[in-house]
Amino acid sequence: MTKLRVGLLFGGRSGEHEVSISSAIAIANALCSGENQNRYDFYPFYIQKDGVWQNTVTSRIVLDSGKPLPVETANPAQLWQFPPEAAQMEVWFPILHGPNGEDGTMQGLLTLMQVPWVGSGVLGSSVGMDKLMMKMAFAYAGLPQVKYMGVRRSQICSDADVLPKLWDDIEGAIGYPCFVKPANLGSSVGIAKVRNRKELEAALNSAASYDRRIIIEEAISGIREVECAVLGNGDPKTSVIGEITYDSDFYDYETKYTEGLAGLKIPAPLPEEVATKIREMSRQALAAVDARGLSRVDFFYVESTGDIFINEINTLPGFTATSMYPRLWDAAGIPFPELVHQLIQFAREQSNFQ
Ligand SMILES: Nc1ncnc2c1ncn2[C@@H]1O[C@H](COP(=O)(O)OP(=O)(O)O)[C@@H](O)[C@H]1O
Ligand SMILES: [Mg+2]
Repeated sequence: MTKLRVGLLFGGRSGEHEVSISSAIAIANALCSGENQNRYDFYPFYIQKDGVWQNTVTSRIVLDSGKPLPVETANPAQLWQFPPEAAQMEVWFPILHGPNGEDGTMQGLLTLMQVPWVGSGVLGSSVGMDKLMMKMAFAYAGLPQVKYMGVRRSQICSDADVLPKLWDDIEGAIGYPCFVKPANLGSSVGIAKVRNRKELEAALNSAASYDRRIIIEEAISGIREVECAVLGNGDPKTSVIGEITYDSDFYDYETKYTEGLAGLKIPAPLPEEVATKIREMSRQALAAVDARGLSRVDFFYVESTGDIFINEINTLPGFTATSMYPRLWDAAGIPFPELVHQLIQFAREQSNFQ
Protein backbone atom coordinates (compact mmCIF):
# COMPACT_ATOMS: atom_id res chain seq x y z
CA MET A 1 0.00 0.00 0.00
CA THR A 2 1.45 3.39 -0.92
CA LYS A 3 1.50 5.84 1.92
CA LEU A 4 -0.01 9.30 1.75
CA ARG A 5 2.44 12.18 2.11
CA VAL A 6 1.23 14.47 4.90
CA GLY A 7 2.80 17.90 5.42
CA LEU A 8 2.58 19.18 8.98
CA LEU A 9 2.75 22.99 9.11
CA PHE A 10 3.62 24.44 12.51
CA GLY A 11 5.16 27.38 14.37
CA GLY A 12 4.07 30.46 12.45
CA ARG A 13 4.12 34.22 12.72
CA SER A 14 1.85 34.31 15.76
CA GLY A 15 1.92 34.88 19.50
CA GLU A 16 0.78 31.25 19.79
CA HIS A 17 3.96 29.96 18.07
CA GLU A 18 5.11 27.90 21.09
CA VAL A 19 1.68 26.28 21.56
CA SER A 20 1.77 25.33 17.88
CA ILE A 21 5.11 23.54 18.36
CA SER A 22 3.60 21.54 21.25
CA SER A 23 0.54 20.67 19.15
CA ALA A 24 2.78 19.60 16.26
CA ILE A 25 4.87 17.29 18.49
CA ALA A 26 1.70 15.49 19.59
CA ILE A 27 0.39 15.18 16.01
CA ALA A 28 3.81 14.01 14.71
CA ASN A 29 3.83 11.26 17.33
CA ALA A 30 0.31 10.24 16.34
CA LEU A 31 1.24 10.08 12.64
CA CYS A 32 4.11 7.73 13.46
CA SER A 33 2.22 5.40 15.77
CA GLY A 34 0.10 2.25 15.31
CA GLU A 35 -1.85 1.93 12.07
CA ASN A 36 -0.91 5.46 11.01
CA GLN A 37 2.68 4.30 10.32
CA ASN A 38 1.36 2.22 7.41
CA ARG A 39 -0.96 4.94 6.17
CA TYR A 40 1.16 8.09 6.22
CA ASP A 41 4.61 9.44 5.42
CA PHE A 42 4.91 12.54 7.47
CA TYR A 43 6.94 15.67 6.59
CA PRO A 44 7.24 18.54 9.09
CA PHE A 45 7.48 22.15 7.86
CA TYR A 46 8.37 24.65 10.55
CA ILE A 47 7.46 28.30 9.94
CA GLN A 48 9.74 30.61 11.90
CA LYS A 49 8.47 33.58 13.88
CA ASP A 50 9.48 35.82 10.96
CA GLY A 51 7.37 33.75 8.54
CA VAL A 52 10.22 31.89 6.80
CA TRP A 53 9.57 28.19 6.06
CA GLN A 54 12.20 25.65 7.07
CA ASN A 55 12.99 22.39 5.27
CA THR A 56 12.03 19.05 6.78
CA VAL A 57 15.50 18.35 8.25
CA THR A 58 15.55 21.57 10.29
CA SER A 59 11.85 21.18 11.09
CA ARG A 60 12.50 17.74 12.63
CA ILE A 61 15.17 19.31 14.83
CA VAL A 62 12.59 21.84 16.08
CA LEU A 63 10.13 19.01 16.78
CA ASP A 64 12.80 17.07 18.68
CA SER A 65 13.88 20.04 20.78
CA GLY A 66 10.38 21.54 21.23
CA LYS A 67 12.01 24.99 21.02
CA PRO A 68 11.52 27.77 18.45
CA LEU A 69 14.48 28.66 16.24
CA PRO A 70 15.94 32.08 16.98
CA VAL A 71 15.22 34.42 14.08
CA GLU A 72 17.63 36.88 12.56
CA THR A 73 16.54 39.87 10.53
CA ALA A 74 14.03 38.51 8.04
CA ASN A 75 14.95 38.62 4.39
CA PRO A 76 11.64 39.18 2.54
CA ALA A 77 12.93 37.23 -0.48
CA GLN A 78 13.02 34.06 1.66
CA LEU A 79 9.25 34.29 2.15
CA TRP A 80 8.88 33.27 -1.49
CA GLN A 81 11.01 30.17 -1.16
CA PHE A 82 9.17 27.04 -0.11
CA PRO A 83 11.27 23.98 0.78
CA PRO A 84 11.38 21.71 -2.31
CA GLU A 85 9.62 18.83 -0.50
CA ALA A 86 6.53 21.02 -0.11
CA ALA A 87 5.52 20.39 -3.73
CA GLN A 88 5.28 16.66 -2.99
CA MET A 89 2.63 16.87 -0.26
CA GLU A 90 -0.70 15.14 -0.91
CA VAL A 91 -2.47 16.58 2.11
CA TRP A 92 -1.59 19.35 4.58
CA PHE A 93 -2.19 19.48 8.31
CA PRO A 94 -1.76 23.16 9.27
CA ILE A 95 -1.59 23.21 13.06
CA LEU A 96 -1.00 26.95 13.30
CA HIS A 97 -2.83 28.81 16.07
CA GLY A 98 -3.77 32.50 15.90
CA PRO A 99 -2.92 35.10 13.23
CA ASN A 100 -1.24 33.98 9.96
CA GLY A 101 -2.48 30.42 10.24
CA GLU A 102 -5.89 30.11 11.88
CA ASP A 103 -7.27 33.25 10.23
CA GLY A 104 -7.60 32.22 6.58
CA THR A 105 -4.23 33.48 5.35
CA MET A 106 -2.62 30.01 5.21
CA GLN A 107 -5.89 28.55 3.96
CA GLY A 108 -5.72 31.03 1.05
CA LEU A 109 -2.22 29.85 0.17
CA LEU A 110 -3.30 26.20 0.38
CA THR A 111 -6.30 26.98 -1.83
CA LEU A 112 -3.90 28.28 -4.48
CA MET A 113 -1.70 25.17 -4.09
CA GLN A 114 -4.78 23.00 -4.78
CA VAL A 115 -3.85 20.37 -2.22
CA PRO A 116 -6.45 19.38 0.43
CA TRP A 117 -5.86 20.36 4.04
CA VAL A 118 -7.25 19.68 7.49
CA GLY A 119 -9.73 22.25 8.78
CA SER A 120 -11.74 25.19 7.55
CA GLY A 121 -11.43 27.16 4.33
CA VAL A 122 -10.66 30.86 3.98
CA LEU A 123 -14.12 32.10 4.99
CA GLY A 124 -14.64 29.89 8.06
CA SER A 125 -11.12 30.55 9.30
CA SER A 126 -11.26 34.32 8.94
CA VAL A 127 -14.79 34.76 10.29
CA GLY A 128 -13.99 32.40 13.18
CA MET A 129 -10.87 34.38 14.04
CA ASP A 130 -12.33 37.91 14.11
CA LYS A 131 -14.47 38.15 17.24
CA LEU A 132 -16.67 40.91 15.76
CA MET A 133 -17.42 39.08 12.51
CA MET A 134 -17.89 35.85 14.47
CA LYS A 135 -20.45 37.49 16.75
CA MET A 136 -22.31 38.96 13.78
CA ALA A 137 -22.50 35.50 12.21
CA PHE A 138 -23.69 33.97 15.50
CA ALA A 139 -26.30 36.72 15.93
CA TYR A 140 -27.60 36.07 12.42
CA ALA A 141 -27.88 32.37 13.29
CA GLY A 142 -29.89 33.25 16.42
CA LEU A 143 -27.29 31.93 18.87
CA PRO A 144 -27.55 33.54 22.34
CA GLN A 145 -24.62 35.81 23.22
CA VAL A 146 -23.75 38.42 25.83
CA LYS A 147 -24.33 42.11 24.98
CA TYR A 148 -21.44 43.52 22.93
CA MET A 149 -20.35 46.42 20.76
CA GLY A 150 -17.42 47.02 18.43
CA VAL A 151 -15.13 50.05 18.27
CA ARG A 152 -12.28 50.94 15.94
CA ARG A 153 -8.78 52.01 16.89
CA SER A 154 -9.34 55.34 15.12
CA GLN A 155 -12.21 56.11 17.53
CA ILE A 156 -9.98 55.37 20.53
CA CYS A 157 -7.23 57.57 19.12
CA SER A 158 -9.57 60.50 18.41
CA ASP A 159 -9.40 63.94 20.05
CA ALA A 160 -9.69 64.36 23.81
CA ASP A 161 -12.96 66.28 23.35
CA VAL A 162 -14.54 63.41 21.33
CA LEU A 163 -13.43 60.54 23.56
CA PRO A 164 -15.84 61.12 26.48
CA LYS A 165 -18.69 60.61 24.01
CA LEU A 166 -17.28 57.16 23.16
CA TRP A 167 -17.03 56.27 26.85
CA ASP A 168 -20.62 57.51 27.38
CA ASP A 169 -21.77 55.29 24.50
CA ILE A 170 -20.00 52.24 25.94
CA GLU A 171 -21.35 52.87 29.44
CA GLY A 172 -24.86 53.36 28.04
CA ALA A 173 -24.83 50.28 25.81
CA ILE A 174 -22.80 47.85 27.93
CA GLY A 175 -22.08 49.26 31.42
CA TYR A 176 -19.69 47.88 34.08
CA PRO A 177 -18.14 45.47 34.64
CA CYS A 178 -17.26 44.77 31.03
CA PHE A 179 -14.56 43.00 29.02
CA VAL A 180 -12.42 44.80 26.46
CA LYS A 181 -10.80 42.56 23.83
CA PRO A 182 -8.76 42.94 20.67
CA ALA A 183 -10.85 41.25 17.94
CA ASN A 184 -8.10 39.10 16.40
CA LEU A 185 -5.96 37.54 19.10
CA GLY A 186 -6.25 34.46 21.29
CA SER A 187 -4.92 33.10 24.58
CA SER A 188 -6.57 36.05 26.43
CA VAL A 189 -3.77 38.38 25.21
CA GLY A 190 -4.76 42.06 25.48
CA ILE A 191 -8.04 41.22 27.27
CA ALA A 192 -9.05 43.20 30.37
CA LYS A 193 -12.00 43.19 32.73
CA VAL A 194 -12.87 46.77 33.64
CA ARG A 195 -15.00 48.25 36.42
CA ASN A 196 -14.89 52.01 35.86
CA ARG A 197 -14.10 54.73 33.33
CA LYS A 198 -10.43 54.97 34.26
CA GLU A 199 -9.92 51.24 33.70
CA LEU A 200 -11.98 51.43 30.50
CA GLU A 201 -9.73 54.12 29.06
CA ALA A 202 -6.58 52.11 29.87
CA ALA A 203 -8.06 48.86 28.51
CA LEU A 204 -9.16 50.49 25.26
CA ASN A 205 -5.68 51.92 24.73
CA SER A 206 -4.09 48.56 25.48
CA ALA A 207 -6.46 46.65 23.15
CA ALA A 208 -5.86 49.27 20.42
CA SER A 209 -2.12 48.57 20.62
CA TYR A 210 -2.88 44.99 19.47
CA ASP A 211 -5.64 45.45 16.92
CA ARG A 212 -7.57 47.96 14.81
CA ARG A 213 -10.80 46.25 15.82
CA ILE A 214 -11.89 46.07 19.46
CA ILE A 215 -14.84 44.46 21.15
CA ILE A 216 -16.51 45.41 24.42
CA GLU A 217 -18.74 42.89 26.16
CA GLU A 218 -20.93 42.82 29.22
CA ALA A 219 -19.12 40.77 31.89
CA ILE A 220 -21.29 37.89 33.10
CA SER A 221 -20.76 36.79 36.69
CA GLY A 222 -21.09 33.27 38.06
CA ILE A 223 -20.24 31.57 34.78
CA ARG A 224 -19.06 28.03 34.22
CA GLU A 225 -16.86 27.71 31.13
CA VAL A 226 -17.79 24.70 29.05
CA GLU A 227 -16.47 23.55 25.69
CA CYS A 228 -17.55 21.16 22.96
CA ALA A 229 -15.45 19.57 20.22
CA VAL A 230 -16.85 19.17 16.70
CA LEU A 231 -15.45 16.85 14.01
CA GLY A 232 -16.44 16.36 10.38
CA ASN A 233 -17.72 18.20 7.32
CA GLY A 234 -21.38 18.39 6.25
CA ASP A 235 -22.96 16.62 9.20
CA PRO A 236 -20.30 16.83 11.94
CA LYS A 237 -20.15 14.87 15.19
CA THR A 238 -20.07 16.53 18.60
CA SER A 239 -18.12 15.30 21.60
CA VAL A 240 -18.94 15.10 25.28
CA ILE A 241 -18.75 18.51 27.01
CA GLY A 242 -15.67 19.57 28.96
CA GLU A 243 -15.34 22.22 31.65
CA ILE A 244 -12.46 24.52 32.58
CA THR A 245 -12.07 25.30 36.27
CA TYR A 246 -9.85 27.95 37.89
CA ASP A 247 -9.72 30.24 40.93
CA SER A 248 -8.63 33.48 39.22
CA ASP A 249 -11.06 36.29 38.34
CA PHE A 250 -11.28 35.05 34.75
CA TYR A 251 -9.50 32.63 32.41
CA ASP A 252 -6.60 34.96 31.68
CA TYR A 253 -3.21 34.31 30.04
CA GLU A 254 -1.47 33.38 33.28
CA THR A 255 -4.21 30.93 34.27
CA LYS A 256 -4.14 29.36 30.80
CA TYR A 257 -0.40 28.78 30.67
CA THR A 258 0.78 28.32 34.26
CA GLU A 259 0.89 24.66 35.23
CA GLY A 260 -1.69 23.83 37.87
CA LEU A 261 -3.79 27.03 37.73
CA ALA A 262 -6.57 25.58 35.60
CA GLY A 263 -8.28 22.20 35.71
CA LEU A 264 -10.30 20.20 33.19
CA LYS A 265 -13.42 18.22 33.96
CA ILE A 266 -14.44 15.69 31.32
CA PRO A 267 -17.32 15.18 31.09
CA ALA A 268 -18.57 18.38 32.67
CA PRO A 269 -21.19 17.64 35.34
CA LEU A 270 -24.21 19.10 33.53
CA PRO A 271 -27.90 18.20 33.26
CA GLU A 272 -28.37 16.10 30.11
CA GLU A 273 -30.64 18.71 28.48
CA VAL A 274 -27.97 21.41 28.93
CA ALA A 275 -25.29 19.18 27.37
CA THR A 276 -27.61 18.34 24.46
CA LYS A 277 -28.34 22.03 23.86
CA ILE A 278 -24.62 22.89 23.91
CA ARG A 279 -23.91 20.15 21.37
CA GLU A 280 -26.63 21.42 19.07
CA MET A 281 -25.47 25.05 19.42
CA SER A 282 -21.91 23.91 18.61
CA ARG A 283 -23.04 22.44 15.30
CA GLN A 284 -24.97 25.62 14.53
CA ALA A 285 -21.87 27.67 15.33
CA LEU A 286 -19.81 25.80 12.71
CA ALA A 287 -22.52 26.32 10.12
CA ALA A 288 -22.85 30.02 11.06
CA VAL A 289 -19.21 30.82 10.27
CA ASP A 290 -18.81 28.11 7.58
CA ALA A 291 -16.19 26.16 9.56
CA ARG A 292 -15.45 22.51 8.79
CA GLY A 293 -13.21 19.61 9.69
CA LEU A 294 -12.64 20.53 13.31
CA SER A 295 -13.54 23.25 15.79
CA ARG A 296 -13.84 23.73 19.53
CA VAL A 297 -16.82 25.82 20.57
CA ASP A 298 -16.71 27.61 23.94
CA PHE A 299 -19.69 28.62 26.08
CA PHE A 300 -20.58 30.41 29.32
CA TYR A 301 -23.16 28.47 31.34
CA VAL A 302 -24.91 30.35 34.14
CA GLU A 303 -26.16 27.64 36.45
CA SER A 304 -28.42 29.94 38.53
CA THR A 305 -30.47 31.10 35.53
CA GLY A 306 -29.92 28.22 33.10
CA ASP A 307 -28.59 30.66 30.47
CA ILE A 308 -26.13 29.33 27.90
CA PHE A 309 -24.17 32.00 25.99
CA ILE A 310 -21.88 31.12 23.13
CA ASN A 311 -18.46 32.75 23.67
CA GLU A 312 -16.34 31.77 20.69
CA ILE A 313 -15.31 29.22 18.08
CA ASN A 314 -11.71 28.08 17.61
CA THR A 315 -11.19 26.60 14.17
CA LEU A 316 -7.67 25.29 14.98
CA PRO A 317 -7.86 24.58 18.71
CA GLY A 318 -4.89 23.61 20.90
CA PHE A 319 -3.86 20.06 19.95
CA THR A 320 -1.25 19.02 22.52
CA ALA A 321 -1.62 15.63 24.19
CA THR A 322 -3.32 17.34 27.15
CA SER A 323 -5.45 19.86 25.20
CA MET A 324 -9.22 19.94 25.55
CA TYR A 325 -10.01 19.09 21.91
CA PRO A 326 -8.25 15.69 21.68
CA ARG A 327 -9.17 14.86 25.27
CA LEU A 328 -12.87 15.37 24.55
CA TRP A 329 -12.63 12.94 21.62
CA ASP A 330 -10.65 10.49 23.68
CA ALA A 331 -13.50 10.55 26.22
CA ALA A 332 -15.94 9.99 23.35
CA GLY A 333 -14.02 6.83 22.29
CA ILE A 334 -11.71 8.30 19.60
CA PRO A 335 -8.06 8.04 20.72
CA PHE A 336 -5.56 10.69 19.57
CA PRO A 337 -4.00 8.76 16.60
CA GLU A 338 -7.44 7.76 15.31
CA LEU A 339 -8.58 11.41 15.62
CA VAL A 340 -5.63 12.56 13.49
CA HIS A 341 -6.47 9.85 10.91
CA GLN A 342 -10.13 10.89 10.77
CA LEU A 343 -9.19 14.55 10.33
CA ILE A 344 -6.99 13.68 7.35
CA GLN A 345 -9.81 11.61 5.86
CA PHE A 346 -12.24 14.53 6.27
CA ALA A 347 -9.69 16.81 4.58
CA ARG A 348 -9.51 14.49 1.57
CA GLU A 349 -13.28 14.05 1.42
CA GLN A 350 -13.77 17.80 1.27
CA SER A 351 -11.59 19.34 -1.41
CA ASN A 352 -11.48 22.77 0.14
CA PHE A 353 -10.05 24.40 -2.95
CA GLN A 354 -13.06 23.62 -5.13
N1 LIG B 1 -18.41 38.50 28.59
C1 LIG B 1 -17.68 37.80 29.48
N2 LIG B 1 -18.15 37.54 30.74
C2 LIG B 1 -17.40 36.85 31.62
N3 LIG B 1 -16.15 36.38 31.37
C3 LIG B 1 -15.63 36.62 30.15
C4 LIG B 1 -16.36 37.32 29.14
N4 LIG B 1 -15.59 37.40 28.04
C5 LIG B 1 -14.44 36.78 28.33
N5 LIG B 1 -14.44 36.31 29.59
C6 LIG B 1 -13.33 35.62 30.26
O1 LIG B 1 -12.12 35.88 29.51
C7 LIG B 1 -11.60 34.66 28.94
C8 LIG B 1 -10.99 34.94 27.58
O2 LIG B 1 -11.94 35.48 26.71
P1 LIG B 1 -12.15 34.93 25.23
O3 LIG B 1 -13.14 35.80 24.56
O4 LIG B 1 -12.45 33.49 25.28
O5 LIG B 1 -10.72 35.22 24.56
P2 LIG B 1 -9.62 34.24 23.89
O6 LIG B 1 -10.00 34.16 22.45
O7 LIG B 1 -8.34 34.98 24.07
O8 LIG B 1 -9.69 32.92 24.58
C9 LIG B 1 -12.80 33.73 28.92
O9 LIG B 1 -12.40 32.38 28.90
C10 LIG B 1 -13.52 34.12 30.23
O10 LIG B 1 -12.84 33.60 31.37
MG1 LIG C 1 -11.34 31.76 24.84
